[in-house]
Amino acid sequence: MDNFNYYFDNIHLLGIQGMNKKTIQSILERAQYFNQKKKNRKNKILKDNLVINLFFENSTRTKASFEIAAKSMSADILNISVSSSSIKKGETLIDTAATLNAMHPDFLILRHPNSGAAEMLSKHVECSIINAGDGRHEHPTQALLDAAVIKEEGINLEGLKIAICGDILNSRVARSNIYLLTTMGAQVSVIGPPTLIPKDIERMGVKVFFDLDSGLKSSDIIMILRLQNERMDGSETPSKREYYSFFGINENNLKLAKKNALVMHPGPMNRGVEIASLLADNNEISLVKKQVEMGVSVRIACLEMLKLSRNKLLK
Ligand code: CP
Repeated sequence: MDNFNYYFDNIHLLGIQGMNKKTIQSILERAQYFNQKKKNRKNKILKDNLVINLFFENSTRTKASFEIAAKSMSADILNISVSSSSIKKGETLIDTAATLNAMHPDFLILRHPNSGAAEMLSKHVECSIINAGDGRHEHPTQALLDAAVIKEEGINLEGLKIAICGDILNSRVARSNIYLLTTMGAQVSVIGPPTLIPKDIERMGVKVFFDLDSGLKSSDIIMILRLQNERMDGSETPSKREYYSFFGINENNLKLAKKNALVMHPGPMNRGVEIASLLADNNEISLVKKQVEMGVSVRIACLEMLKLSRNKLLK
């Protein structure tokens, strides 16, 4: 393993909040390095290591890319199917994690509907916990892969004007991105209906806009978010059609942003709700496919970072 320095002193990756600029820069640089190698990035960094994917919410991108990343690093990986596990018999999250912990994994990758679940587990196990999304709280590897894609496009994060548009209230992607982008010196705006913007979000260092006309103005990048119906009670938006007419991004209203502005979406996309299908598929403007591709490289870098921390802190 290279002695790459991530400037990171923790065996867990729970969020972006509090992560310093040097660590973020290192992860992005290393992810870009692994991304250049693509098919040729098989290594032995996690040889003899056991990685467990424990996902209590559905996932395509995050779960698959952690599995591909771990396999490319020569780890053994176990995917726990929550629906056929003893969780269905009432076993608690902590008991489940303690049971898995007794089988001596090195990494437990957790997605859970409750904010703070990853941090809570980190206090009960010896293995490294990676937060793959906890409720409305954080999705750190998503924010890291988004930033790595922006850098890969040759765009500097410092001074970047980026608008995050949609369901900010329920979005862990928004929160992790706001922490990361403001730490790196970007100017972040959030756009959405008042019902989907947290009341005190300005405290995170962002500007708030309730309409596309003023919110998109002079943006370099628009990050579009999904309406997270699984965390809503039905009163937040009148109808999908009305939401699209006010906040859906298409090639026409994208002209409100800077010339050559790019769009991102963490997926899964609701075509015709938050993003027009034509725009989503326009690879000159949409970075969606690049985000998925970078997901694997960022997760390799994060696993390597935690492996190095474990070697250093647990010896
Ligand atoms: N962006 C994201 O977390 O996608 P999945 O839910 O498919 O993992």
